[in-house]
Amino acid sequence: MKVFITGGAGFIGSNFIRYWMRAHPQCEIINFDKLTYAGNPANLADVAGQPNYRFVRGDISRPEDVLSALDPDVDLIINFAAESHVDRSIENPAAFIRTNITGVQVLLDAARERGIDRFVQISTDEVMGSLGPEGYFTEESPLQPNSPYAASKAAAEMLVRASHHTFGLDTIIIRSGNCYGPYQFPEKLIPLMITNAMDDQPLPIYGDGLNVRDWIYVEDYCRAVDAIITRGRSGEVYCVGARSEKTNLEVVETLLRLLNKPRSLIQFVEDRPGHDRRYAIDPSKVEREFGWRPQETFESGMAKTVHWYQTHRPWVDAVRSGAYREYYQRMYGHRKILKPSH
Ligand code: NAD
Ligand code: DAU
Repeated sequence: MKVFITGGAGFIGSNFIRYWMRAHPQCEIINFDKLTYAGNPANLADVAGQPNYRFVRGDISRPEDVLSALDPDVDLIINFAAESHVDRSIENPAAFIRTNITGVQVLLDAARERGIDRFVQISTDEVMGSLGPEGYFTEESPLQPNSPYAASKAAAEMLVRASHHTFGLDTIIIRSGNCYGPYQFPEKLIPLMITNAMDDQPLPIYGDGLNVRDWIYVEDYCRAVDAIITRGRSGEVYCVGARSEKTNLEVVETLLRLLNKPRSLIQFVEDRPGHDRRYAIDPSKVEREFGWRPQETFESGMAKTVHWYQTHRPWVDAVRSGAYREYYQRMYGHRKILKPSH
């Protein structure tokens, strides 16, 4: 089997490639990635030399890049490539439209042209908007995206659905909650807080810190994706979550405990515009159809993650240098500091 994985140099994509090469050693992989600020060849340094792995640099929104890399004998496309950070989408949505919408249509067209057996779109729970204190997202929840990022991912889902319905392309859409683990770029909550705390820098929590996210350890997610890809039904949507809801404050307090750092590092700052209050996934369909269950608890996954960042200092220092410093200053430099409400 030959798999074309896009966005494989990013956080989830690189974890998935490492996982997949272990689980399916006979399989060939093409990792197609533009290497944006979020794509890092160092994430896959340990597998790069293997004979069944090939890296191609290219942009999913450019048909000529995709078609020249997509060998005719590819069986499966898994699209992880995306602009993935909500705060950046609020700052400048243009790249999100190009990659997350145009890019997906380019991949769908190429899949049809090349007769690819199955197309898997890696989507997100954010397409379903924000929940109140009760209830859960399911595959039947309406699409109600709130940020430019979420809107671009919802548009992509619609294009995937249309290619299935109109052209009979075999497609699957997978929506997950917030993933965490090794190799995550420190713009996202958990790696940002770990790396700041490691350097005794303030931990900027948006608003009151009581927004809720549903966390899943990245390797548990990779196993779910594997089950869905290999056994899932064409045209279906699958929601993946580990039943692990936490407020942002709980997440940061857990990290401080694991790192043995003081609570005084916490700094409440001006909220994210349009900040979704709560995400929570009901993963019953995936549990029922595939018998999938997460192997990590929130505590064990967080302990592994903290340990990984503590023992990969050169990786951390490299990704937090250069353009990252400008990004951090731009994103946090002007945010008002709030008085803690609790
Ligand atoms: P990431 O930002 O870490 O990685 C994205 C990768 O895509 C990078 O390697 C980047 O270079 C590549 N890329 C970006 N634009 C490209 C383009 N035009 N052409 C080719 N490659 C391009 O993202 P991630 O956190 O690993 O997320 C992967 C996927 O999972 C995304 O589709 C995201 O929407 C989805 N997702 C992420 C999470 C999460 O918690 N991280 C949760 C749910 C869904
Ligand atoms: O739910 C899935 C989504 O999870 C994915 O589709 C996105 O690609 C991924 O980025 C993530 O989106 P979030 O906006 O939930 O993740 P982020 O890590 O940016 O923020 C998590 C929570 O932490 C959110 O409530 C905002 C808050 N936060 C974030 C940052 C970066 C802070 O309080 N301070 C921060 O500095």
